[in-house]
Amino acid sequence: MFKYNCLNPIAKVGLDGFNKNFVACEDFSNADCVLVRSAKMHDMELHDNLMAIARAGAGVNNIPLDKCAEKGVVVFNTPGANANGVKELVLAGMLYASRGIVDGINWINSEKDDPDVAKAAEKQKKQYAGSEISGKKLGVIGLGAIGIKVANAAVNLGMEVYGYDPYISVDAAWNLSRAIKHVLNVEVIYANCDYITIHVPLLDSTRHMINKESIKLMKDSAILLNFARDELVDEESVVAALKVGKIKKYVSDFPNPTTAGQEGCIVTPHLGASTAESEDNCAVMAVKELQDYMENGNIKNSVNFPKIDMGVCDKQGRVLILHENKANMITKFASYFGDAGINIAEMNNKSKGNNAVSVFDLDTPSTEDIIEKINAVPGVYKVRVVK
Ligand SMILES: NC(=O)c1ccc[n+]([C@@H]2O[C@H](COP(=O)([O-])OP(=O)(O)OC[C@H]3O[C@@H](n4cnc5c(N)ncnc54)[C@H](O)[C@@H]3O)[C@@H](O)[C@H]2O)c1
Repeated sequence: MFKYNCLNPIAKVGLDGFNKNFVACEDFSNADCVLVRSAKMHDMELHDNLMAIARAGAGVNNIPLDKCAEKGVVVFNTPGANANGVKELVLAGMLYASRGIVDGINWINSEKDDPDVAKAAEKQKKQYAGSEISGKKLGVIGLGAIGIKVANAAVNLGMEVYGYDPYISVDAAWNLSRAIKHVLNVEVIYANCDYITIHVPLLDSTRHMINKESIKLMKDSAILLNFARDELVDEESVVAALKVGKIKKYVSDFPNPTTAGQEGCIVTPHLGASTAESEDNCAVMAVKELQDYMENGNIKNSVNFPKIDMGVCDKQGRVLILHENKANMITKFASYFGDAGINIAEMNNKSKGNNAVSVFDLDTPSTEDIIEKINAVPGVYKVRVVK
């Protein structure tokens, strides 16, 4: 029986997914695995029996990843679980930027005491006229979980869509509508697109990827949407470009002093993933990941250990070892089984940065003596007898 603890409220639809081998536990220091959303874990003591943490969401800056790795705690997140929520807000953002919806609503609110508001509105409405998105060109930079959904939905809305992602995954490419023009140079997007939306991770290499130079290459009156991270865009340059009409609107989900209340900026308070469905999807995915790791030792969507999948163990034993990624580890582990006369039926080893995982499926169960020996190997973080 595995004990799980929730450090934040987790959607019931997710927790209902735990099978009979899992039981809720109120006490973090007694739990085998943990579900978390925003609780800060940096100062929390990680006890020896803790095996996994699943973050119901994408960002993991509330979790000490290196400390977890060294304690043999696998940290999972739920990439893409909130992609539809973000996609829908991007579509709304394009519409907000194209028609005077925000200004129109603000004007109506300011006229709420006018008994003739309906008549006044008929006169006023020409101020808020706009244009349609159908037939316009949209450039999507970054074709991951969110970018793909945005690109495909825009095709269905009648837009001509250009996509740019030099590192696109095979899975992503399969899911992309054939109507999308896959461009190999982002400048093609700047030169051609009426709308540009950015969906890349924030890395040193992507910080300020939209800057003064890229703005210069854009079509006059381009509309820029940023539902990824504000630091991807040099927003001072965007504000300057808005002032001279080079950019028509900047739609962002990340309020800050540079953009909040600024003419031409439409800013939402980080609402991309704020939907009941996104929360549910994250919880369902987080529970599935924990369950597969606790029961089978399989790792999917971990941020501190590599992906590994040996399916359900149909041999007599399975031992999983989390360890430092360095030479001669696997040879040592294998020799302990061999010396004890235990045949390794199947094995797998994967690495990610400084960390690695080895899984051994055995024709006879492992012994306490072998586990002790493996535990004593320098660089071993944790050994689990999965079966
Ligand atoms: N507004 C919100 O509430 C919200 C919610 C979830 C995610 N996000 C943000 O949205 C962004 C995308 O998230 P995702 O889940 O789609 O991520 P993802 O990892 O699924 O996709 C990112 C894509 O960007 C591509 N990429 C990386 N560097 C690139 C570059 N230089 N040029 C072009 N493409 C590049 C990658 O190959 C990948 O396909 C992230 O920045 C994430 O933090 C925002």
